[in-house]
Amino acid sequence: MTVRSLISTTDLSGPDIVALLDDAATLRAQRSALTSGGPAPTLLAGRTVALIFEKPSTRTRVSFEVGVAELGGRPLPLSSADLQLGRGETVADTGAVLGRYVQGLVVRTFAQARLEELASASGVPVINALTDEEHPCQALADLLTVRDAFGTFAGRTLTYVGDGNNVAHSLLLAGAAVGLGVRIAHPDGYAPDAAVVARARALAEAHGSEVTVTTDAAAAAEGTHVLYTDVWASMGQEAEQAARAAVFAPYTLDGALVARAADDAIVLHCLPAHRGEEIAADVLDGPRSRVFDQAENRLHAQKAVLAMLVGGSQPGAIAAAEGGG
Ligand code: CP
Repeated sequence: MTVRSLISTTDLSGPDIVALLDDAATLRAQRSALTSGGPAPTLLAGRTVALIFEKPSTRTRVSFEVGVAELGGRPLPLSSADLQLGRGETVADTGAVLGRYVQGLVVRTFAQARLEELASASGVPVINALTDEEHPCQALADLLTVRDAFGTFAGRTLTYVGDGNNVAHSLLLAGAAVGLGVRIAHPDGYAPDAAVVARARALAEAHGSEVTVTTDAAAAAEGTHVLYTDVWASMGQEAEQAARAAVFAPYTLDGALVARAADDAIVLHCLPAHRGEEIAADVLDGPRSRVFDQAENRLHAQKAVLAMLVGGSQPGAIAAAEGGG
């Protein structure tokens, strides 16, 4: 399948996702060789990728900048303050101009529609680095971390506890597409978008898994293989922080919830984390936590996406060239 941009998680099929994870694992192995003097990859040689962040970021911004450079390309980090976008130039004009200079755009912004407009105006691949609706690159890294732990998705279940936000949406869509069971446990009034849930249910049915959306966190944690949470107030919701803290308190990922999960369950968090709020410190820093492997996997998964969209590599081709996949 030829994928032009990664705007929604649904731009990737289940087989595309699995092939990208194979590529990511291969790039991870090659990176170890690179740091000990191995040949540098040239998948993005001669290509410039602009990184536009309209919201703060540590992991996504740095891992994309490092990732483009490690693939032999030139990263061009920009913030709204650097661009006339911040002074009212239209998204369409910005996209049309940048498309004349660079071979790809990585964008963190607000509405998904803004990304779609950029992609259509620029004519170059656009990668969603988080919108209000989705966080597909996060979901790819999450699935890589789950597969690292269990070797497979079949028969495994991920339970996300908290806000039905962009991270929950991409987990629903990506997990269902690869046959991973996904359970979302949320407080009343904070359910994931109904259209996203319906789409995930259709994908799950096609791939032999199940999607559950509930307000019962304890039931959702029962026997699960992955426990996952995110901050209670996402970027732009800071004014709601206190009100949300009261509503979300029963959904804290703590030792009692972990005790309900499978014996070999792992704990994930997309970070940044607030210890003592959405996750107990002894869980985030405990033996089941894979959060820093998960954060590292952002780099490897995004390099696979860059190689596909900007480098023109078919999903799975990097792994196949190494005899993997
Ligand atoms: N998880 C995540 O997207 O982190 P950043 O906001 O630091 O990029």
